[in-house]
Formats: sequence, structure tokens, C-alpha cells
Amino acid sequence: MLQTKIANIKLANCIYNASGPACSSLEELQALGQSAAGAILSKSATLAPRAGNPAPRYVDTPWGSINSMGLPNKGHAYYLAAAKELASFQKPYIVSLSGMSLADNLKMIAEMQEEENIAAIELNLSCPNLPGKPQTAYDFEQTEKVLAAVFAQNNKPLGVKLPPYFDLLHFEQMAQILNQFPLSFVSCINSIGNGLVIDWEKEETLIRPKDGFGGLGGDYIKATALANVRQFYLLLRPEISVVAVGGIKSGQDAFEHILCGAKAVQIGTHLMKTGPSCFAQISAELTAIMQAKGYQSIEDFRGKLKTAA
Ligand code: DOR
Repeated sequence: MLQTKIANIKLANCIYNASGPACSSLEELQALGQSAAGAILSKSATLAPRAGNPAPRYVDTPWGSINSMGLPNKGHAYYLAAAKELASFQKPYIVSLSGMSLADNLKMIAEMQEEENIAAIELNLSCPNLPGKPQTAYDFEQTEKVLAAVFAQNNKPLGVKLPPYFDLLHFEQMAQILNQFPLSFVSCINSIGNGLVIDWEKEETLIRPKDGFGGLGGDYIKATALANVRQFYLLLRPEISVVAVGGIKSGQDAFEHILCGAKAVQIGTHLMKTGPSCFAQISAELTAIMQAKGYQSIEDFRGKLKTAA
């Protein structure tokens, strides 16, 4: 009932993890393999392993989360090697890449392409937590340059992880760039960058890096995520799937994102809060909503959001 397809990749369940939470070590990736998640997506890899930013760097709040992890990861070779270990789960393994430079990204993509057990690449152009480094996908010219270089060599299904946009002109400009390339998917949205959450009693920030500024996830960002999914669903070529991420913790949240046009949905903050059992929980809730409405597959309602009369 929840099956879907991204490019030519079949997912038995349209619900899987967002890159970031609980997907850095082989043990965590295996736990995703054992869960009801429809795919296994890795933490964003860099060329070399990284320790990331100083703690505290991830804090749950009543409305979601704030993080400034700074891309701690075990380096791209680790996530490449993990592909063989994860093959037995027989679900797509997608590697997220977030190189420190275009050259790093090209080198990592070239290596990932050779591994048949990697189903796709999610190129992260939107990390908000690297001191002194802007989010690539807010620089439209640079994004076009990156994609031109990537697709000059790429032959694996590849999508991009985008930051949230807030201006209708920006949606149009970014869609025009993305539509020029044979992208398989876009994942909308990364955390809302550079939020600030404060402990008013202690009179201090919740996290330490970047004077407390960090990416927001969870309830704070659902409305912005829905808007981004909807805009890119309407503006991109139909061959480019939209994958939703932002504020999904229930079957209803997933249903809303699919109604906006999402072909799959990813879980970030809620996975961090509740662990890999969240995939079975959200799947059961989404299935119940679909049964009550008489829908047999997500294609029965995907994208069919109506405007209030
Ligand atoms: O919120 C985020 N945190 N988004 C990213 O792309 C990277 C991550 C981190 O490691 O800081």
C-alpha cells in the first residue's frame, strides 16, 4: 500500500530516514535496515572523517530540535564499504554526500558510482552549520556550476538536498536551474538554518557552536517544508521526484506531504526522539488514514491538494 518509486528505484515503503540523525555508524544503518523504513540513507559524508562542532550541538525541544553538528561523519570510504554490509536488507541504500569543495564531491561521486549496492546519491547542498561556509544552494550561480560538473560525470540516480526557500521568485529561479539537469529527485528541506533557541532561565543558548545559532527541525519547520514540497512539485519536470522532509512525526504529517506532491517522506527529528520504531508507527497511521479514505496507493492522492474555495 505504501510502495513508491524514485527514478527507477522501487521502495516497498515510501517512509525512510532523513540524512543526519541515527545514520552515522554501521550499527545505526543496520538498525534502519531492520526497521520498517523503505530505504537506508547515510549521514552526509565528507572525503575525510570529521569530528564536527563542539558539544552541546543537538538539543531536543518541545517543538522540535536545534542542531549545529558540523558534519561529524566517518568519511566517505566508510559509507562506501557499508554498502556490502547492508545489501542483505534488500532495500535501497542511498549515500548522502556533502564535500567541503566541488572537487571533493566529484571524487566521492566517482567512487560511489562504482558500487552496485548503492542505489542513489543524495548530494547535500544545504548544510547550515559550517562556520564561515555559506549554504551552496542559496548561491544560485554556484549551484548551477556544481550540477553541471556533477552531471558531466555522473551515471547513478542522483538527487539534491535543498535548503528551505521563502520567496516565490527563488522557487522559480531554483526550479529553472534544476530542470536543466537529469536529476532523479530533490529532498526538501534541510533544517531551517541559523535559528536561535534560548534557555530563558539560564539566560543562555541551548547549543554551543556558532554562538548558539543552528538548524531547526521538527514542528517548527513543517509548514515551510510543505510549502517547499508543493512549490517544487508544481515547478519541476515530472521526472524529478520530490522527497519530503520536515516536521513529520505522524501518519497525518506524511499524508499532508504526499498531498503536496511528495513521492517519499523522510523522518529526522522524530527518529532522533523515538528511534527506528517510528517507521512502523508512521506507516500504520498513514495506512489507517488511506484505508479510511478509500485510497489503495499513494498515487491515488499524491499532489492532489485543493485550494480552499
Ligand atoms: O541540520 C543539519 N545538520 N543539516 C546538515 O546538512 C548537516 C547537519 C550537520 O551535521 O550539522
